[in-house]
Amino acid sequence: MILDGKKFSSEIRVEIKDEIGNIYEKTGQKPGLAVIIVGENPASKVYVNSKIKTCTELGMTSRLHSLNGDAEEHEILDLIKKLNEDKEIDGILVQLPLPAKFNETNIIEAISPGKDVDCFTHENIGKLFLNEKSSLKPCTPQGIVELLKKYEVEFLGKKVVIVGRSNIVGKPLALMFINLGATVTVCNSHTQNLGEITKEADILISAVGKSKFITADMVKQGAIVVDVGINRVEGKLVGDVDYDRVCEKTSLITPVPGGVGPMTIAILMKNTLEAFKNNKK
Ligand code: GUN
Repeated sequence: MILDGKKFSSEIRVEIKDEIGNIYEKTGQKPGLAVIIVGENPASKVYVNSKIKTCTELGMTSRLHSLNGDAEEHEILDLIKKLNEDKEIDGILVQLPLPAKFNETNIIEAISPGKDVDCFTHENIGKLFLNEKSSLKPCTPQGIVELLKKYEVEFLGKKVVIVGRSNIVGKPLALMFINLGATVTVCNSHTQNLGEITKEADILISAVGKSKFITADMVKQGAIVVDVGINRVEGKLVGDVDYDRVCEKTSLITPVPGGVGPMTIAILMKNTLEAFKNNKK
């Protein structure tokens, strides 16, 4: 059976749209998201446009700031400073990766933690580490956990293997599964005897960015597989998992597209609404 992120994310979006409509009727206010993109990364442009389009569909204010790749770091920092003080803006997102000359940590850290809807700042990652229930959660990891919960997947005592150690997916997702009581192993594309480790997984997550990286012999019969990869092969979007063969062994599996991707955007919208509510308190 598939983990239908497309269907579940549209249910979440309907709930958010209704709530925003009700808030706007009562107060004349609505949440606002500012998205900053720097340079010409084509994949980033696609993701950013999709985020802005979703804001509009849900009745949120959105602002897209596209900066040239040869902008100076202080221009980005000045823009973030203005957005931190802007009453119409509740969430600020800097699309990653930034061109190599920029210091990503400096730039992310300039975002006010209350507007950090990606949950990338030291403060918000620290809250996640400490398992503080009220904090905003990183979008892709939270989307994965919510999707699995929707299908009544149990985490306590389960073996979770994550392939990928990025700050955006692998590391925060590992923290979240630890907080949920799972036994977590984090691997990467260099891990020796990777297949022996992945074959132990009750829940296997791949966030590597290489098509057909996870093959059927690496997966336990009945496992749950979550594919975070987005790779373009001959013009077609595919994940990291050799889907046609792997899906025969799994009890649940995410398709690409239509699995994790739409969940990430739904959680971003949820976080922006949450930040709006927190900021108005
Ligand atoms: N690049 C890839 N995924 C993400 C994300 O979730 N947020 C941001 N800001 N950049 C990304």
